[in-house]
Amino acid sequence: MANFAVMGFGTVGSGVAEVLRMNGASIAEKLGEPLHLKYILDVRDLSATPYADIAVKDFSVLENDAELDVVVESIGGAKVALDFTRRALMAGKHVVTSNKELVASHGRELLAIAREKNVNYLFEASVGGGIPVLRPLFQCLAGNRIEEVVGILNGTTNYILTRMVKSGVPFAEALKEAQSKGYAEQNPAADVEGLDAGRKICILSNLAWGKEVLPENISVQGISGLDLKDVAIASAGGYRVKLLGRAVKLDGGKQAAYVAPHLVPEDCPIAAVDDVFNAIMIRGNAVGEVMFYGRGAGDLPTASAVMGDVIDALQHRVRRRNLGWSESAELAGPDQLSMRWYLRGDFPVPAGCETLSGGGIITGVLHAGEARTLAEKLGAAALLPVLG
Ligand code: HSE
Repeated sequence: MANFAVMGFGTVGSGVAEVLRMNGASIAEKLGEPLHLKYILDVRDLSATPYADIAVKDFSVLENDAELDVVVESIGGAKVALDFTRRALMAGKHVVTSNKELVASHGRELLAIAREKNVNYLFEASVGGGIPVLRPLFQCLAGNRIEEVVGILNGTTNYILTRMVKSGVPFAEALKEAQSKGYAEQNPAADVEGLDAGRKICILSNLAWGKEVLPENISVQGISGLDLKDVAIASAGGYRVKLLGRAVKLDGGKQAAYVAPHLVPEDCPIAAVDDVFNAIMIRGNAVGEVMFYGRGAGDLPTASAVMGDVIDALQHRVRRRNLGWSESAELAGPDQLSMRWYLRGDFPVPAGCETLSGGGIITGVLHAGEARTLAEKLGAAALLPVLG
């Protein structure tokens, strides 16, 4: 029998317990042994729940239990979760997490401890909710030189944008809906201002190129400054507005990563991704483009990814999964990326630009700095990158 514990019994932690309840028999068959949830660690009182018998409040119970194989960290944040993860790894436990903040900011250190202790630190659920994307990136696509990773990485903002644009629901109401469905962060500003997507694009970038990019070093723009006028103009012109995270390997070895709302041409599959769904496109030099799609947030989808990692950790007890990133990446500023740009305003259309009805234009390919200069010169009221 394999034993695991869940730390943090919120949306994800309770989803993990539920997935085990639903699928325990088939999980045991796949593992070749029963999987037993031995402890739930939470500060809240769980005495009125079916988990009263296994509820604990003291982390050292987990730390000192030699029979405990895996710890699921679904506490969130980078304070208590960091301390407990360090200690669990040091105690020789495999750790599985959905905590993107912790992985993005402290993954390098935690993966180094895991390596030293010969245990797994796995975090499939930290990006794309239930979508299998990290394991395909570091395993199935390992034969490629990855050139670009781009996608919708935040379910809450995609849900909000979809509700606002398709159903005319006001922002505040759409956000409340996302919160009640368990999609949003404890502080939803992390979703709305793009920080959550920023953490996720850093994790993807770290795995794609094996070098660390920290969230505080990339440019992040969320949806709070988005004007629905631009969404309407884009839509009439054959584009959808989506909040994207993007990481690119540039010639010369530098890499760039950023988060911003983009215009996405309607014929690009990412444009059709609505509600809580996420989609991540990865381009490799052998495979070309592959896309991963599914529910990017929510209890059971995220728990699905966590449970996959728990099983994988147990199947790699002897020879641990070798993944991680080491030294810091050499970052190029987003100004060094070339793309087309959307501008809005009352100005004569410059030569070579596509006109959108309602006062928008799409430029030819420009560096970000050139696009900003053009926007200033024309007195444009909006400037957004265009994907593709
Ligand atoms: N708040 C996150 C989102 C949860 O909406 O995508 C999943 O990481």
